[in-house]
Order: sequence, then structure tokens, then C-alpha cells
Amino acid sequence: MKIVSLSENRDLEKRVAITPETAKKYTSIGFEVFLPENYGLHLGFNDEEYISQGVNIINDEKDLIQRSDIIVQIGLPSDEKLSNFKENQNLIGVLNPYLNKDRLHNLNKKKINNFSLELLPRITRAQSMDILSSQANLAGYKAVIESFANFEKAIPMMMTAAGTVPAAKVLVVGAGVAGLQAIATAKRMGAIVFATDVRMASKEQVESLGGKFLTVEGAENLETEGGYAKEASEDFKKKQEDLLGETLKKIDIVICTALIPGKKAPIIIKENMINNMQSGSVIYDLAAIQGGNTALTKVDELIEKNGVKIMGEMNILNKLPISASTLYAKNVFNFVSNLLDKENNKININLEDEIIKKTLIR
Ligand code: NAI
Repeated sequence: MKIVSLSENRDLEKRVAITPETAKKYTSIGFEVFLPENYGLHLGFNDEEYISQGVNIINDEKDLIQRSDIIVQIGLPSDEKLSNFKENQNLIGVLNPYLNKDRLHNLNKKKINNFSLELLPRITRAQSMDILSSQANLAGYKAVIESFANFEKAIPMMMTAAGTVPAAKVLVVGAGVAGLQAIATAKRMGAIVFATDVRMASKEQVESLGGKFLTVEGAENLETEGGYAKEASEDFKKKQEDLLGETLKKIDIVICTALIPGKKAPIIIKENMINNMQSGSVIYDLAAIQGGNTALTKVDELIEKNGVKIMGEMNILNKLPISASTLYAKNVFNFVSNLLDKENNKININLEDEIIKKTLIR
């Protein structure tokens, strides 16, 4: 079995899908690994390091593609690269099936199996492959670091001979994987942390990390069977707005992470709420790329409104691509191992396996 990864468009994506560590794991279970020249150089993973782990470096990308049984990526490759794919190959990545419907359909017509990792079921057996969790966890951490770097006051309380600096107050909107890591990170750095979510299960998790949970009065639990959020009713939104409107007047830093799968992110922080915040406050919107949780978020722009800074990026993981690649590549390796029929050394697309069935795009 031959496994390949192609270089991503480095202007948009700095992560890689095969690290030297996972290259070694692939070779140890019988794979031949092929990569293009300088595949991981920008992360300090040079070709010699890959070669020492058993990787073959190939210059010609077309040749590289044509050799492969499995191609592992972060995002869907360009149409030019895809045009070289051939029947029975297996493509694995974050293929964004809602956005790339037609392009994936064309690959299906060529009898290429596409596995999109953001469709993994959130079940215990899939945890080691769960790219959404591994990447959201890092994003939650980095959003706190970025917001703190843009906040012009100290974070922890400091009692000094020259007077006391109060601890910064942080609000985390959405306490899923990213939100919980944001709470933990902000707490560790000495902030006072508040959080809110539409799923009641998150209250206990927030409190176990030392955060104060803000409950929307009279709210029903908006959780789907799969553990995701449902879209809130108008009544809920009004009550949430009243609660957060008052809270935000006293908050220094907001980390937004609220998402509803397959939908635009809910706008939770309206312009009038931002107008009432203290000058110098910072909002980091991790939902920016899905439309943003604030009315003013613009992707990759730092907006200032009445002294409040609002920021959100296309790909915050590009700011810690080594950690993100290390976890992503391990998730992918675990996914590939599960696809492999080890006795016969071939890919087994077993549709009775929920992990395979849910990620395969047909
Ligand atoms: P997500 O990224 O889809 O959403 C982030 C958070 O925003 C969620 O907690 C959601 O409830 C919240 N949210 C949505 N609309 C909101 C609103 N209007 N106001 C406030 N908050 C709002 O979620 P994520 O992080 O992917 O987690 C989804 C679920 O999956 C969680 O229950 C998590 O614990 C669970 N999970 C389970 C795993 C497993 O293997 N069993 C692994 C990872 C996550």
C-alpha cells in the first residue's frame, strides 16, 4: 500500500497531514510513504528527517499522485491536482462537503473514495481520529493568547506596593471543545472566567474548570442527540441578549466559539452590545469564518468600535501549525489504520463501521 500527501497551498494552509513521527508509524505497519520535496520544511521537518523515517521523496507531483493508493491532505487539493487522480484511489482530509459538493461529486464519478474527517461521529472509538476536537482545542487556546496579546492591561490580579491591578474578566460564548480549552487557558493565566452555552450539559464542565456559568433564565436545553447545539428560538435569543448585554458591560475579553453544524454561526453579540462595552476590551471571534458571533466581525481584520477591538481569522491554526500538524497527522494515521484490512494489506471500506460509513462521501 502506498500513501502520499501533496503540499498544501502554503499561503492559506501551513499544516501538514504526515509528520516524520506518523511517517514512521505508516512504514511500521507496512505502508510505503511518498512525499514531494520540501513538504514539511516550513515547519522544520526537512526532507532528510522524513527520509530517515523511511519516506521516499518524489519531485514530480503527477508521478506522486499516480503512485498512491491513499492521499492524505488537510483540505481538498486544487482542480489541477485532482485532474491527475485515478480510479480506486482514496482521498482523506477535511474536504468540506457542503462547500465542495460539485467537485467531490466529480471525484465520485471517477470512482475515487472521498473521506471527509469533519463528518466523523463523536463516539468513543473515534476520539483518537477526531480532528474537530484536536484542532478546536488548539484554536481555543490560541484565541485566548491572541486576545490577551491585544489587551493593553495585565490579566492576573497583582497586589504591589504601587497598588493593585485587578484580574481581567473573560467571557467565553459557547462551551464546546474550543470554549472549554479557552476557559482553562484563561483561568491558568489568572483571569476571572464566565461562560455561557445553550447546552445545559456544558454547565458542569464549565464549573469543573473554575468558570462561572451564565444560565439564560427559563431556557430549555438546546442539545441534539449527537451532542451539538440546536438553533435557538427568538424567545431564547432575546433572553440571552438581555443577559449578555448586562454582563458585557463588565467584561474585558470575550472569546466567541458558538457554532451550529451546517448553519451560519449565530450572531450573539449585537452592535449595541459592543457599544456598551468598556473601551480597551477585546473580542476574539473563533466563529469568524462561519459568519461570526458578533455583528461586526470581519475575517482577518482587526475592527475597532468605540475602543473595543474585534478580531477573527480565517485559520488561527496557521499560528501554531507544528502542534496542529502533530495532532492532525496522528488523527489521520488512526483513521487510516481503521480503514486497513491488516491481514490482506488492503483498504476495506466496511460500511458496517459507523466511522467509515459516516465519513465516506457518496
Ligand atoms: P461546536 O463547535 O459545534 O459549537 C461550539 C459550542 O457553541 C457548542 O458547545 C454549542 O452548544 C455552542 N453554541 C451554539 N449556539 C450557541 C448559542 N446561540 N449560544 C451559546 N452557545 C452556543 O461544538 P463542539 O465543540 O464541536 O462540541 C459539540 C459536542 O460534541 C459537545 O457536546 C462536545 O462535548 C461533544 N464532543 C464529544 C466527543 C466524544 O467523543 N464523545 C468528542 C468531542 C466533542
